[in-house]
Amino acid sequence: MIQSKLPNVGTTIFTTMSQLAAQTGAINLSQGFPDFDGPQALREAVGRHVMAGHNQYAPMTGLPALREQVAQKIARSYGRRVDMDAEVTVTPGATEAIFCAVQALVRPGDEVIVFDPCYDSYEPSVELAGGRCVHVPLALPDFAIDWQRLSDAIGPRTRLIILNSPHNPSGALISRAELDQLAALIREREIYLVSDEVYEHLVFDGVAHASVLAHEELYQRAFVVSSFGKTYHVTGWKTGYVVAPPALSAELRKVHQFVTFCGITPLQWALADYMSAHPEHVDELPAFYQAKRDLFCDLLKGSRFTFTRSPGTYFQLADYSAIRDDLSDVKMSLWLTREHGVATIPVSVFYQTPPKDLRLVRFCFAKREDTLRQAAEKLCRV
Ligand SMILES: Cc1ncc(COP(=O)(O)O)c(C=O)c1O
Repeated sequence: MIQSKLPNVGTTIFTTMSQLAAQTGAINLSQGFPDFDGPQALREAVGRHVMAGHNQYAPMTGLPALREQVAQKIARSYGRRVDMDAEVTVTPGATEAIFCAVQALVRPGDEVIVFDPCYDSYEPSVELAGGRCVHVPLALPDFAIDWQRLSDAIGPRTRLIILNSPHNPSGALISRAELDQLAALIREREIYLVSDEVYEHLVFDGVAHASVLAHEELYQRAFVVSSFGKTYHVTGWKTGYVVAPPALSAELRKVHQFVTFCGITPLQWALADYMSAHPEHVDELPAFYQAKRDLFCDLLKGSRFTFTRSPGTYFQLADYSAIRDDLSDVKMSLWLTREHGVATIPVSVFYQTPPKDLRLVRFCFAKREDTLRQAAEKLCRV
């Protein structure tokens, strides 16, 4: 019998719920992807570049034209001038970027702090590097950093902290003041950061995203990760990027070079064209997704779910304790899918040790208006 290197990893709840939604014909608000397409001009550009013969390996660090667009966007959005050659690396998805950053930094015996609930790729990446995740729960009900618990979790073996803002699954945001607090906490230690900012442009209610890219001190020890998939409604393209100071980028690239070597060439050409022609796309995203959030939340007011509007991401949490307090969130998600035709994700799966009596499910509102209306109608009958 093979001895698994990842004995705790099985089929993820995202696969399970999407399969169940397909089998039962339920509306799928579980997995995080849009049910609408990315911009037509972007999709057409891929075809054009494939036909123009842009089908061989891209440079290992990413197509220069795309890295230049990323650098320009960072200057516009966060006021930082990055060196596109030394600091920007295009990767096949944010997941690969996170994996490479972790492999580049974490050695056997090192500890990596993650905040629960957390995205499911972090821990396997750390374990494969021989490290150990130390899970620090975010404080309910707002999913804020619990500074005492974070401070208690930091020790001599702490090598890395993985941040995620806007946060999946809660939508919570880390503020600039919190970044300052973090900087003060780790100032005297050799601790690095992976800042998972894949939802950087999905921040609502006029709030500005506090990126680590805009924080001089933290940036000097950070890998900041983003995803074109989220920003351009093309999650299946699995194309992202990571920005880090030159020395850190150099270490990450040593790993990336032998994991995939490079991202997919025609997709990078298309993204470079589109970003250059439509720099306004990212500025329009908050209003685009806020309208979806508000539609969904307004409709959900007619239900027995309780919630506060998500400050960011394309996820909305809802408390169902007034409906079926007797069910765990996993059972509730299965019940909602099978009996009421709406697939959701239980929040407990994002935890190492879920809080007792957690009664929260996550809905993805990256959906067409008619999908959101149909889903809400069903949820209002629960
Ligand atoms: C918090 C978070 N990080 C990373 C990713 C992965 O992004 P990509 O599809 O670009 O690998 C996701 C996707 O759902 C996510 O929610």
